Amino acid sequence: MNLLITGGAGFIGAEAVRAWVDRPEVTKLVNLDALTYAADLRRLHGIHGVHPRYVFEQVDLRDRAAVREVVRRHGITHVVHFAAETHVDRSIAGPEVFVETNVLGTLHLLEACREEWNLRYQISEFRFVHVSTDEVYGSLGPADPAFTEANPLQPNSPYSASKAGADHLVRCYVRTYGLPAFITRCVNNFGPTQHTEKFIPTVLRCLADDQPVPIYGDGRNVREWLAVSDHVEGLRLVLERGEVGGTYNLGSGVELDNLDLAGRLCDLFDAETGRPAGTARRRLSFVADRPGHDLRYAVDATRLRALGWQPAADFNTALRATVRGFLERRGT
Ligand SMILES: NC(=O)c1ccc[n+]([C@@H]2O[C@H](COP(=O)([O-])OP(=O)(O)OC[C@H]3O[C@@H](n4cnc5c(N)ncnc54)[C@H](O)[C@@H]3O)[C@@H](O)[C@H]2O)c1
Repeated sequence: MNLLITGGAGFIGAEAVRAWVDRPEVTKLVNLDALTYAADLRRLHGIHGVHPRYVFEQVDLRDRAAVREVVRRHGITHVVHFAAETHVDRSIAGPEVFVETNVLGTLHLLEACREEWNLRYQISEFRFVHVSTDEVYGSLGPADPAFTEANPLQPNSPYSASKAGADHLVRCYVRTYGLPAFITRCVNNFGPTQHTEKFIPTVLRCLADDQPVPIYGDGRNVREWLAVSDHVEGLRLVLERGEVGGTYNLGSGVELDNLDLAGRLCDLFDAETGRPAGTARRRLSFVADRPGHDLRYAVDATRLRALGWQPAADFNTALRATVRGFLERRGT
């Protein structure tokens, strides 16, 4: 396959590049990324500019002609679409770029595939995975059952609304044009190279800088957490075995409220830096809640588990590795 990964310099896309570049079914792996503030090519150390099967294209999804040119020139047969604006707080401060990249950018990619793939062979030979998020479903109450793929989309932030917009486009390209696409909706990811603006790295950065650790509201907002490596393996299985047109949730069943997770990170931080137990927890500090802050997300991943997927990482071990990775990069 000539595999196009969009957003391969981002947190999850880079994990996918690392996991897939040496797989036997991959002839060429093209990483299309605009290199926004969220990108970091150090995540691709040892691959970027070095690996014989890897090609980098610095292209903005908002540039329709350039996107099509990449799909054409590299004879792309498979797409896994990660690139997006991803930070909820930024979407509240400035929604427009979220619509431009996440909705219009996805449309440009869908159009490029539809046009190019229709010029070659049967469109059904190709595959397109759209990487979405559990946030499109909206918010759950404390006792509600987890979201299934049949739940309606009820996004509450400009970020999740723009991702839901893209999901609807992908769905309609399956129905209207026969594009062989999948939609995946994963819970919160974590891992050592996540951008410092996200929750876990923010906690660790504040602790490392001896700053207060901001906790929104009362800290009782619940998220489900999956190791980034398990997300990427799930996407690979969808690509390999998924039912065309299908939507797949990815989750671990590990639900934690923000205060609980921050507390665990504090304890790991103390242990890893040799500080007395309880030191870091004193840094936790409640701040005004995020507007429209969803109370709880959790998904039912039965459908993907039926394809043979299950999370391999132990949560506590992976969280410790995340803390260690953060400290190593800080040179602490
Ligand atoms: N991080 C999570 O917990 C999580 C959970 C579920 C789903 N997702 C989804 O997974 C995908 C990847 O998330 P992430 O956390 O790795 O994101 P990220 O913010 O770390 O990386 C996004 C990447 O996309 C690139 N990009 C942004 N705008 C672009 C544009 N206009 N053109 C080309 N490239 C552009 C950036 O340069 C960056 O490399 C996103 O679609 C996100 O919605 C993330």
